[in-house]
Order: sequence, then structure tokens, then C-alpha cells
Amino acid sequence: MSIPIKISGLGFYVPPAVITNDDLSKIMDTSDEWIKTRTGIEKRHLVSGNESALDMGIAAARKAVEKAKITPDKIDYIIAAACLGTHIYPSTACEIQNAIGAEKAVCFDITAACSGLIYGMGIAKAFMETGAAKNVLIVATEALSHCLDWNDRATCVLFGDGAGAMMLSVAEDGQNDILSIGLKSRGDLGHYITMESPGKNSPFVKPNDEGQMYIKMNGREVYKYVVTKLPPHIEECVEKSGLKMEEIDYLVPHQANLRIIEALEKRLNFKHEGVISNIQEYANTSAASIPIALVESIQNGKMKLPCTAILTGFGAGMTAGTAVVRLREGIA
Ligand code: ACO
Repeated sequence: MSIPIKISGLGFYVPPAVITNDDLSKIMDTSDEWIKTRTGIEKRHLVSGNESALDMGIAAARKAVEKAKITPDKIDYIIAAACLGTHIYPSTACEIQNAIGAEKAVCFDITAACSGLIYGMGIAKAFMETGAAKNVLIVATEALSHCLDWNDRATCVLFGDGAGAMMLSVAEDGQNDILSIGLKSRGDLGHYITMESPGKNSPFVKPNDEGQMYIKMNGREVYKYVVTKLPPHIEECVEKSGLKMEEIDYLVPHQANLRIIEALEKRLNFKHEGVISNIQEYANTSAASIPIALVESIQNGKMKLPCTAILTGFGAGMTAGTAVVRLREGIA
């Protein structure tokens, strides 16, 4: 028997420092016009001083827990999606556990880049369906400004920092809100977006090539891949959900590029007023972008609850993930 699951709480946090396109053009050969026309991005929030992915993740997690109206000791699992946490270990999830006092939770990190939230939802759903968990907290937190090559204008202008969190809980009223989830991986296209890990061979052997912890990306190939392969994947998930595309109120895509979002809208024939985008303000915050877009648009009234929505992301791996969900009132 399948277990009904609801999205019970959402939260997000972005750092206060705001860097505009004009700020970038003071230190590199770029312009507000180029960035806005190609991507839609106008500004991004970046961590400053010792603020970290962990701090942002904790702030977002606390908000989601509060909205879910449960105490942290009721959380069974914490799954953190972070391209680069404050430490490789302890895991970001364990550090969040400690900070919020979720002493019973089993904690681990996943690496699925910008698809991290949807991968986390897929894993959480599987745990919950075995009866192993009643409350699972997924935290997507990204301080990508730490792993950008600030001399590579083609990449560094695209990203921002931020965190989002989602609590999934067993729905006591029996209404299942996770209507379908689809996950995809294409390791053969892994070279499209890469970040190498550092590390030196021992002094006893031949030296190795040391990795550079910078995001490198073939933007054109990513663009082509996403606009051709993501729409059929989304359509498959919608079909699995039992809903029709025109019955779904909102499309909440990963915020990577406004042109990609517009291409998805067109290819899916999705109603324009239902497409959620806030890339102008935050740029690409990787796995955090979907929960940030969700919470912000609920809070500013662009999304009206209750509703149905498609959450869809893609990123390094290549990975992709889509969830068709119902969203209840009071979750953000
Ligand atoms: N400012 C000014 N000029 C620039 C900049 C910049 N910031 N960056 C590149 N250019 C120049 C290039 O040098 C090139 O000049 P040239 O024609 O003289 O050689 C020109 O602009 C065009 O460059 P392209 O790379 O061809 O530009 P394109 O139109 O493809 O846009 C972009 C680039 C915005 C990156 C686009 O390809 C894109 O958005 N791709 C998808 C990226 C994406 O979604 N990534 C998701 C990552 S998610 C994750 O998992 C990390």
C-alpha cells in the first residue's frame, strides 16, 4: 500500500550581499546588457566573510521545520544537497542535524548538482514508503561563489548563493501530494559541467595532475541538451501523475537561464502566467533555486495555494529530476 506524503514545510535563505551585473563589469570584460540578454540575470546574492553554505542551510532548514509545525526531534532523515559544503566531512546534513537539534535523524549528503532537491525528494519518498520515515528534511544549500573561476566570464556571471529546504511528512489525512517523481542520469554527458576534486599523490610516487575546484561548463551543449531532452522527461512525469498538462497550475523550473525557462514554457505549451521565475534577482543557485523560487512566489502572492505544480531541475552529471506535486496552504 502506498503511503500518502505531503510537503509540510518550506524555507529559504539568501545572503544579504547583492552583486549587480554592473558590479561584475567593473572587474571583468562583461556588461549588464550581455548578461541580461543571454540569461535574464540582473543580480545575485553572494556569501561574504565567513558566511557559508552550512549557515545558509541551517537558516533555511529552521524555517521549513517551523512551517511544518513539528519539533526537530521528530525528523527521521536529513538529506543535504550541496555541491560544496563547508566540509567534505562531517557531512552538511550531519552539521545541520547538530545545529537544529534533530538528534534522532539519520543524515547524509547527495551530489546531483542542480537536480539535488528532486533527487532528495525521490530518496525521501522511497524511505517513507517502506515505513522507515515519517518526516524527512531535504536541504539544498549552495555557496557556488567559492568554486567559480572569477576570471572565466562565461561561467562566473551565471551563479549566485542561497539555500532552500523542504520537509516531507506522512499525510495523516490520507491525501498524497507527491503525484509523480522521475529521475534521470546521463553519465556519458558528464563532461558538459565539471568540477574537479583537489588532492595530491603521496611523495613516494609520481605526482598527479592536481584538480581545480572550479565549475567548468560547456554552456552551449548544456543549453541544447536541456531544451531538447527535458520537455519529454517532464511530459512523461505529468502523464505518470494522472493529471493533464493544462490542469497543472504552475511550472517551477530550475533557474539556470531565462531563455531555457522560456523554451520549456513554449515546448510544453505551458500557460505563461503559471511559469515561475526569479532568476533576475538570484541567478543560478543550483539545487537551491527551486525551493527559493517556490517560497518566494508563495510569499509574494504569485503562486496561490492550494495548487498543483511541476518542479523540474537539471544539472551536472548530467542529472535531471521532475516532481508533480500538490501544494497545501500554510507551507511557506
Ligand atoms: N560577458 C560578455 N561576453 C561574454 C561573456 C560575458 N559574461 N561570456 C561569454 N562572452 C562572449 C564569448 O566570449 C563569445 O564571444 P565570441 O563570439 O567573440 O567568441 C560570445 O560572448 C558568445 O559566447 P557563447 O558562450 O556562445 O554565448 P551563448 O549565447 O551560448 O550564452 C550561456 C552562454 C549564457 C552560458 C548559455 O550557453 C547558457 O545559458 N547555457 C546553459 C547554461 C546552464 O544552464 N547551465 C546550468 C548549469 S547547472 C549546474 O549543474 C552547475
